[in-house]
Amino acid sequence: MSKKKVFISRLFPEIGAELLKNAGFIVNNWNEERSMTQEELIIKAKTHDALFCTLSDKIDKNFFSECPQIQIISQFAVGYDNIDISEATKLGIPVGYTPDVLSNATADVAFGLMIATSRKMFYLHKKILNNEWSFFRPKANLGIELKDKTLGIFGLGRIGIEMAKRCKGAYNMNVIYHNRQPNTISEKQLQAEHVDFPELLSKSDVISVHCSLNDATKGIFNMAAFRQMKPSSIFINTARGLVHNEEDLIKALQTGIIWGAGLDVTNPEPMDAHNPLLQMENVSVLPHIGSATVEAREKMAIMAAENIIQFFKTGKVPNIVNPEVLELN
Ligand code: NDP
Ligand code: DGY
Repeated sequence: MSKKKVFISRLFPEIGAELLKNAGFIVNNWNEERSMTQEELIIKAKTHDALFCTLSDKIDKNFFSECPQIQIISQFAVGYDNIDISEATKLGIPVGYTPDVLSNATADVAFGLMIATSRKMFYLHKKILNNEWSFFRPKANLGIELKDKTLGIFGLGRIGIEMAKRCKGAYNMNVIYHNRQPNTISEKQLQAEHVDFPELLSKSDVISVHCSLNDATKGIFNMAAFRQMKPSSIFINTARGLVHNEEDLIKALQTGIIWGAGLDVTNPEPMDAHNPLLQMENVSVLPHIGSATVEAREKMAIMAAENIIQFFKTGKVPNIVNPEVLELN
């Protein structure tokens, strides 16, 4: 049997490509430190059997029709909103992904953003850089405390659970959450209460977003939602920037409709350096670093490679978004 060819669309941790080569695949890698355009991606992917890709790669109907020989897509991420899953499924193409191994890293970022926002840390750090640290002012730079407050998780899945654990352990926060389906196992573990969306908005002191991006969650945090939140509340988003309406978020913060925000994901990405959010006292922004630890990224690379290796060796994909394509065979 001729050797299978894998195209890798980014500079990922090398372990992924090494595993593939050791398993007998021919591996070609995009070697520039930038995302590929879809045109570039199609030109390369056309001559390969498998694609190892990530968030910035648009895998849509056009991609599939231009690259009909692709047998598996292996995404280096847990989110897969860049991929047209229903088209892949229709075509019988499995889509692999990398769940769990990045949950701790991402929950740490959500937890860190919550604390940093509640104490205005990013803003006050900038003041030192600007030589504006003057004298001790008892009534200035005041943040708010998190102990015993109510945490509202929007999307209590793998990462949401890790965030809730941190908040409960550190601050004894009362956890409420909104999912489409109640997560009864985690409810018991966290003494969490399933509430409807309006209740989540009105009761939470901190709302942390951990849902996937889908038709129902796109833009769900808009002005109508922010208006239902407490004026003292903090909005955290480490899921996807498109889940919030950024113009509405800016207005809600400027007019005191909500108190603060911590974002690891923005809309668009990268955020423009002149975005007003970057100048606000109660806002902390990070450049989409949720899974950016040595440990998580290495495990993601191994998992993404294993999804391809196992598919060609055994017909199974250990971590798959659309298992129905394999069950049909
Ligand atoms: P999970 O699938 O484990 O959890 C997602 C949760 O969202 C589920 O509990 C799901 O529950 C809920 N959900 C989905 N749609 C809705 C909806 N319409 N209304 C309410 N709840 C909804 O995913 P993970 O926890 O592993 O990852 C979550 C997301 O985090 C990823 O999809 C990705 O976009 C993002 N992410 C960002 C990172 C970063 O670097 N900042 C790193 C890693 C992930 P139900 O289906 O019952 O509604
Ligand atoms: C994901 O996995 O979805 C993140 O956004 C990047 O790790």
